Amino acid sequence: MCGIVGALLKSGSVTEGLIDGLSVLEYRGYDSAGVAIVHDGGVSVRKKRGRLANLEEALGDGAFLGALAGIGHTRWATHGEPSDANAHPHTGRSGKLAVVHNGIIENYIELKRELLNEGESFSSETDTEVLTRYIDRLWVEEGGDEAALVRAIRGVLPRVTGYYALAVLAQTPTGPVLLAIRKGPPLVVGVTEDGGYLSSDQLGVLPYTRNVVFLEDSDIALIGPGRLDVVDASGQPVTREARAIEWDPSDSGKGDYPHHMLKEIHEQPDVIARTAFDRIDLGAGDVRFEGGAFDDDFCRSIERIQILACGTALHAGQIASYLIEGLAGIPVDFDFASEFRYRNPRLVHGTVALAITQSGETADTLAATRLARELGARTAAICNVAGSTQVRESEATILTHAGPEIGVASTKAFTAQVVAATLLAIRLARGRGVLHEHKAREILEELRMIRPKVESLLTDAAIARCREVAQQHAGKRGFLFLGRGVNFPVALEGALKLKEIAYVHAEGYAAGEMKHGPIALIDTDMAILVINAEGKVAEKTRANIEQVKARGGVTISVGSDAASHAIAASSIPVPATSEWLSPILNSIPLQLVAYHIAEIHGCDIDKPRNLAKSVTVE
Ligand code: G6P
Repeated sequence: MCGIVGALLKSGSVTEGLIDGLSVLEYRGYDSAGVAIVHDGGVSVRKKRGRLANLEEALGDGAFLGALAGIGHTRWATHGEPSDANAHPHTGRSGKLAVVHNGIIENYIELKRELLNEGESFSSETDTEVLTRYIDRLWVEEGGDEAALVRAIRGVLPRVTGYYALAVLAQTPTGPVLLAIRKGPPLVVGVTEDGGYLSSDQLGVLPYTRNVVFLEDSDIALIGPGRLDVVDASGQPVTREARAIEWDPSDSGKGDYPHHMLKEIHEQPDVIARTAFDRIDLGAGDVRFEGGAFDDDFCRSIERIQILACGTALHAGQIASYLIEGLAGIPVDFDFASEFRYRNPRLVHGTVALAITQSGETADTLAATRLARELGARTAAICNVAGSTQVRESEATILTHAGPEIGVASTKAFTAQVVAATLLAIRLARGRGVLHEHKAREILEELRMIRPKVESLLTDAAIARCREVAQQHAGKRGFLFLGRGVNFPVALEGALKLKEIAYVHAEGYAAGEMKHGPIALIDTDMAILVINAEGKVAEKTRANIEQVKARGGVTISVGSDAASHAIAASSIPVPATSEWLSPILNSIPLQLVAYHIAEIHGCDIDKPRNLAKSVTVE
C-alpha cells in the first residue's frame, strides 16, 4: 500500500532509477506517482494523478536529469482523493526538504490544527504533508544541517500516532541527505560504493545489490554511497546486517506475457516444485523443513492451531485447516486477521498461531500474530518473503518459493501456500505419530508427480477451454462457486479472483449450504461453477449440481469427478489426484476463467481498481 523509493548517488543521475523503482512498486498503489530531487540548492517535485506513465510524461522535458539524490512515491490513497495536489512527495516551507510516506498518521488532524495556529499553511488534504511541514519547521529551527534533521525527526516522531515508512530528502549546506524511517510498513535499504538506495520492498533495491537490509521498527537510517548509519528508538547507533536475496531482478518482469497475472499462472509448475520437492523425504514418508523446523517435539506439543491471514492467503489457510485437522488430528481455528485482533480472542494453552502471508508485511496479519503471542501462543508462518517482518517475528517459518508476485490478484503465491500447508499437515501428522508412513508416502508421491498435471492445465488446449467458458458466461449477471470439504475454500478463492479482476459479482459457498439461501438466486442468468474432485464428498456435491439444474441454473463442473461432468451443462476437466491435493489443481482453471472474463470486459488485470497488493495499513 503505497510504494516509496529513494537514492543518493556518488555520480550520475537519480531520476531514471527512481522511475524504474516505482514501476516495480506500482503494484502497491497506482492512484498517483511523484518524485523529488535535489536541485539548484533546494528540492524540486513533479507529481501526477493516475498511473506512473502520467508522471513519466510530465518528466519528458528532461529537467529532472542529472540530480544525485531523489525520492519517489506511488500512492494508494488513504487521506484525500487521488489528485496532483495530494500526490507525494510533499515539501516543507524551506523548499529544501521533501517527504514520501507509506502508512497513516492517525493524529494528523490534531497536529495540523497546532501547525495552523502557528501560521503554517497546507496545499493538500494529506496526513503526510502535516508530518512534512512539522519536520521541516523543526529542522530549520535546529539549524538546517544533517545532524539537525536527525534531531528534528527524533523530536517529531514521539508526537506522531500511526504507522509509517518514510523517506526524507533534504538539501543541507554540505550536500543532499537521504533518510529512511520505519515504524510498521516495510523499508528495505541497499548500499554500494556507488549509491545508497531505499525501497518499500526488495524489488526496488535488487537492481543495485542483492545484499539488502530490512530496517527494524523505529529505525532512523542515513543512507548514501557506502553509507548506512542507523540509530534505534533510543538514538543509539545500531548495526543492521545485510541479507543476501535469491530473487533475480528479472523475475519481476512480464516476460512475453501480456500480463503479470498470466505469467504468474504459468509459473505455477515451477513454483510448486520449488516449494515442495526438496522437502519431501519419500523414503521416510515424511517432510523435512529447513533447520529442522517443526520437529517431533514441536509437533507433539501443539494443542491447537490458530490460522491468521487476509484475503487469498486466508483461503489457503482454510484449506490448511482441512488438511491439518484431517491428517494430523489437531483442532484448527482460522480467522480473518482483522477480526481476530479486535474480538478479544481466547487461546488455549499450547496454541500455535500460524500466519499465512505472501508479503509478510500485511498490517492486520502482523498485528493479529503479535496479539496471539501476547496471549501466550507460539508463532509460525507460511510466507513468501525471507527477511519480511512476519518471518523475523515468527519462531518457525515455511518459506514458499513463489518468487516475486506482481499481479495484484494472487495466483502462484496461493498455490505455493497450499503446497506449504500440505507439507506442514503431513509433518505434523508424522511428528505426532498419527499418520502411517505408507499413507503419508502415498500423498507425497502424488505431490511429487503433480507437476505434469499442473502443466496439463496450462497447455494451449486447456487454456482455450477456460477461455471458451469465459466467453460463454462473461455476460452473466452473477456467478456462484460451490465446493465441499477441502474444495470449499477453492470455491471462495474462485469467486474472489473474479470479483477482484473482472468486477463481476461472484459468491463462493459451501455446496451443502446452497439450499439455505443462495439457491434463491439461481436462474438462467447465473453461472454456477461447481468444484468437485473424486473423493469422499464427490457424490454429495453431484447432488448439488442436480439441484441447481432442476432450478434452471447453468452449471459448469470443474475438477476430476467425471460423473459431475456428465451431468453439468459444461465442464473443465482436471486430472485426478489425491483428494487432499485437489485444491492445487482445481484452483488453476478458476484463475484462468477469471483472467479471461476480465480480459473480455477490458479490465486492467494486473492493477484492478481500488486494490493494492500489499495492505500495510488497517
Ligand atoms: C491483498 C492482496 C491479496 C492477498 C492479501 C493478503 O488483498 O490483493 O492477494 O492475499 O492482500 O496479503 P499477504 O501478503 O498477507 O498474503
